[in-house]
Order: sequence, then structure tokens, then C-alpha cells
Amino acid sequence: MRDDFGKVAVLMGGDSNERAVSLLSGGAVFLALKRLGIEAEAFDPSDRDINEIQSYNRVFITLHGRGGEDGSVQAFLKSKNVAYTGSDSLSSAIGMDKIKTKLLWRSLNIPTPDFLQVNEKTSYIEILDAISVPFFIKPSNEGSSIGIDKIKNEKQYQEAFLKTSKIDTNVIVEKFVDGEEFTVAIVNGKTFPVIKIKPSNEFYDYEAKYIKDDTQYICPSGIEKNKEASISEEALKAFKAVGCSSWGRVDFMMDKAGRHYFIEVNTSPGMTSHSLVPMAAKEVGINFDQLVLEILKTADVK
Ligand SMILES: Nc1ncnc2c1ncn2[C@@H]1O[C@H](COP(=O)(O)OP(=O)(O)O)[C@@H](O)[C@H]1O
Ligand SMILES: [Mg+2]
Repeated sequence: MRDDFGKVAVLMGGDSNERAVSLLSGGAVFLALKRLGIEAEAFDPSDRDINEIQSYNRVFITLHGRGGEDGSVQAFLKSKNVAYTGSDSLSSAIGMDKIKTKLLWRSLNIPTPDFLQVNEKTSYIEILDAISVPFFIKPSNEGSSIGIDKIKNEKQYQEAFLKTSKIDTNVIVEKFVDGEEFTVAIVNGKTFPVIKIKPSNEFYDYEAKYIKDDTQYICPSGIEKNKEASISEEALKAFKAVGCSSWGRVDFMMDKAGRHYFIEVNTSPGMTSHSLVPMAAKEVGINFDQLVLEILKTADVK
């Protein structure tokens, strides 16, 4: 048993919509830590008093969604002086909030699709004035494509708005990028090769993410080398603009003219054996256990 990291808690589960995926990520990380000879324990805040986390030397966060990815648990760990992986509380909160993330990116000229925050008073005409049809509707704070729909007409919009506004009172409509989807994994200030995501559904929805297994992940992405390097550099800038550190993922779309648009940052990405960050790491010869170790090294009090 090595003791350079002390006793590590793998924070997993929780009570968000993404609990099931978090348990898979946490389970995979836990087994990797064991293989690395690091003293590790699974810690599910739904089963245990979160105050008990103070008895660990480091926390590896594999919670996804609200609670675990939105800055709350990060603020708690900071208040208890416990070192943890991932971004700090403020950046996690911003990263979870698509409106705030996009406003920040906008202010720095980092490309992101046009959008409009909508409420029950917003008319369809106002949306058409701001962005064209089709467009996407999204809850500002959510994940896993929950509450996300592609809208082609007013009736669809009205129905979707009712559904999405129940998930979050902050709702956005966003210009549809007609093209392909990609992701850039970032660990400890470095980007991994870009992965192209090709879902068989109309977009990368909940079903494509977790139920069906026919999404294609393509790495190398097929983007021309120099172009991929400059987009990756900009992805790192987009990540840092939100204040993110340690590790995460930045997703972007590319339209048919080859223009790219960042759509979101994920501060606690999936870490199952077939998740995207492990897939990108593998492309540069970093196996799952080495990746877990690299991420654990970034744990600190922040
Ligand atoms: N502006 C857009 N144009 C085209 N497709 C989009 C756009 N925004 C989102 N999508 C599709 O919807 C999926 C989920 O959207 P995303 O903003 O990443 O939300 P989540 O946080 O739920 O993952 C994306 O992976 C992509 O397939
Ligand atoms: Mg996404």
C-alpha cells in the first residue's frame, strides 16, 4: 500500500438525476485506486453523513449533476479544508449554468451559438427575431441532455417550454448548429486529442448517452491537425475563462462551413471505463489507472 496520497474518499452517487452514472464512474475510479495501491473508500453522500468526509486526506469527486457538479460539495469541502479533485466551487457553479458560461465566453469572444434567455412572457416571434428555426431549448442548469429538445415550430416550443421550465426556472433557446459534435478532454492544464461524437439519434440525447449503445466515438477526430491544435488551445482558454482547473471537458459543435462553437463545459465528466476522457487519454497512451492517478495528483484545497 503506498501512502503518498493518504486515505482517499471516492465521492459517488448522491441524489441528482445522474446518480446511476455517478455510481459507475465512482466504482471504476475506486477500483483503479485499489489497483494503484492507494487506500481508497467509496463514499455516497446519500448514505452517509457528509461531515465524515473530514477524516479523509483527499477526495476524488465523481458526482455528476446538481449537488456534486454545481459547486455545493466543493464549497463544503473547502470550508472543511479537505483537498479534492476538479474545479473549485465558483467555477463549478458557473460551469453548470449555461447562461453564465455563455455570457462569459461571449465577453471574451470565445465562439458559442447565439442564444436568448426565455420565460413565459417571451413570444415565439421574439425568438424568431433573435435566432432562426430550428433551435434548441435547454434548462440553464442541468446535464445529461435532460430537458433539451430540438424545436422546429411554435407548438413544439410551447410544449417543450412547459416541460423544460419545470426542470429549471432559467431556460434558454440556442441557435442550432448544423454539423458535427466534438469534445476536448483537459487534465492538469493539458488537452487530449479531440473526440468526434456521432449519435444515431437526431442529437446526443439522454437515450443516446445512456440507453442505446450505437453512438460512434471517433478519435482521432478527423479535424485537420493544425486546426485541431488551435481549437484545443481555445478550448483550454474557454475552460480557464470559467475559472476551471484540475480536469474537465469542453464540448463544441462544428458547422458545415468548418466554424466551431463551444456549447458547454463539464467540470465532473464521466469516468466509466468507456467514458470520453478515458477514451481520449488512451489515444496518447495513458491508461485508465494512470489517468486516475494524474487526476488525483491535482487534488488540493481550493
Ligand atoms: N446549439 C446546438 N446545436 C446543435 N446541437 C446541439 C446544440 N446544443 C446542444 N446540442 C445537442 O444536445 C446535446 C446536449 O446539449 P448540452 O448543451 O451539451 O447539454 P447537457 O448539459 O445536458 O449535456 C449536445 O450533446 C448536442 O448533441
Ligand atoms: Mg453536454
